[in-house]
Amino acid sequence: MTKQNVYIETYGCQMNEYDSEILAGILTKSEKYNIIHQPEGADYILINTCSVRENAEITIYNRLNHLKQYKKSKKNLVVGIIGCMAERMRKDIFSKSELVKIVIGPDEYRLAPDILQNSMAGNSAIAVRLSRVETYEDIQPLRKEGISAWLAIMRGCNHFCSYCIVPYTRGRERSRSVRSILQEIEQLQNDGFKEVTLLGQNVNSYFDQDEKINFPQLLRRVAKAVANMRIRYVTSHPLDMSDELIDTMNEFDNICNYIHLPFQSGSNRILNLMNRGYTREHYLERISKIQTTLNEFSLSTDIIAGFPTETDEDHNQTLELMQDVQFDGAFMFKYSPREGTKAYKMIDDIPEEVKVQRLNEIIELQNKISKEKNKLEIGKIYEVLVEKPSKKKPQEWMGRTKLNKVVIFDNTDEKYQTGDLVNVTIKRSNSATLIGDVAV
Ligand code: SAH
Ligand code: SF4
Ligand code: F3S
Repeated sequence: MTKQNVYIETYGCQMNEYDSEILAGILTKSEKYNIIHQPEGADYILINTCSVRENAEITIYNRLNHLKQYKKSKKNLVVGIIGCMAERMRKDIFSKSELVKIVIGPDEYRLAPDILQNSMAGNSAIAVRLSRVETYEDIQPLRKEGISAWLAIMRGCNHFCSYCIVPYTRGRERSRSVRSILQEIEQLQNDGFKEVTLLGQNVNSYFDQDEKINFPQLLRRVAKAVANMRIRYVTSHPLDMSDELIDTMNEFDNICNYIHLPFQSGSNRILNLMNRGYTREHYLERISKIQTTLNEFSLSTDIIAGFPTETDEDHNQTLELMQDVQFDGAFMFKYSPREGTKAYKMIDDIPEEVKVQRLNEIIELQNKISKEKNKLEIGKIYEVLVEKPSKKKPQEWMGRTKLNKVVIFDNTDEKYQTGDLVNVTIKRSNSATLIGDVAV
């Protein structure tokens, strides 16, 4: 039987990137499908979607419109919506776009080979059950070639922040076994990967129920098992940013001291309405523990502007917290009401122009801080893991420091290869990147 071609297009967070690799692994293992890397020639186009903000979903509708052209040139093309939007919208997606014949939620990818096959006859199919146990720990993901790998160690979220759709699209928290994680990471090392990022919606809530192993203990085991690999993790929740975790990071050189720790708002009143479970003081106390424990570290965060009832005073407290902490980077968003969440029942009372204004102030401040921080890097030498040519000029390559800073350096004649470690002296910088020369 000739195999059919599947093209998976991924939107959203790193977890979605990883899930696409899991799904590709499941489909290839069934021996009925080939994964291809462009929509041309596909028998199936599956779009792995994100629902976190309204804009994320608008992007998908636009993409669906655009995909109509492929259907014109290939009558039996099947288009599927998978991932978070599939879970949130369920069968309603069928009525939003006649192109969509398949809907698969994040916990149902094992059913994909059969669902795809059945849909060829023109029937539509849907699978959106959430699971309390699915971790895909026995599935071999089909990774893109490279030096950095994703590895989800836990899935789902129990926090129910009032604005957030993720607990509804991803279900309850569950963790993979330590044994399966160690096995896969050792395999990654044997396959030549130089870096692994442990993923979870709340990665530091990881807990192996059988072995009674928490996240810091897991990190310790991973760090020992693959001493030559860089280990990263994302995203942490401030409530689980324990002393034990910070101390463990300090203990091992190969655990990268880059911490992404969303604070969302600097106002205790708003944090409470957001159901974040911590105060501004708790957050700052955790930052101070990081600052006093780790010699070198970098910090990034997520911030939401314009949550319902947010006053100028609340907003100023957000700016103030940013000033206090001096984050290296931030992902900054306008509040977007999501149907089904608790906050959706509150009146979205901050006018659009005020949200935009506050978001712009937040972005401007962060750019200024990033720029100033990166200026301080000039003259320093960093060990950079070589990744790939930069987008602008092919002789300029990019890589990352342990602290996750992007470094651009000259690589004429491709003297340095992907996966090499080089020492780069930083010569210039802007708010997003460091630019330097390889030290010889
Ligand atoms: N804990 C998660 C967060 C996922 S969502 C993780 O592991 O990544 C990523 C970020 O999107 C959140 O931290 C929050 O800042 C933002 N976000 C989530 N819901 C939002 C909404 N309704 N409107 C605006 N931003 C939102
Ligand atoms: Fe969403 Fe909050 Fe869970 Fe993060 S911790 S995924 S923001 S509910
Ligand atoms: Fe989006 Fe789902 Fe990730 S909603 S942010 S793709 S968990």
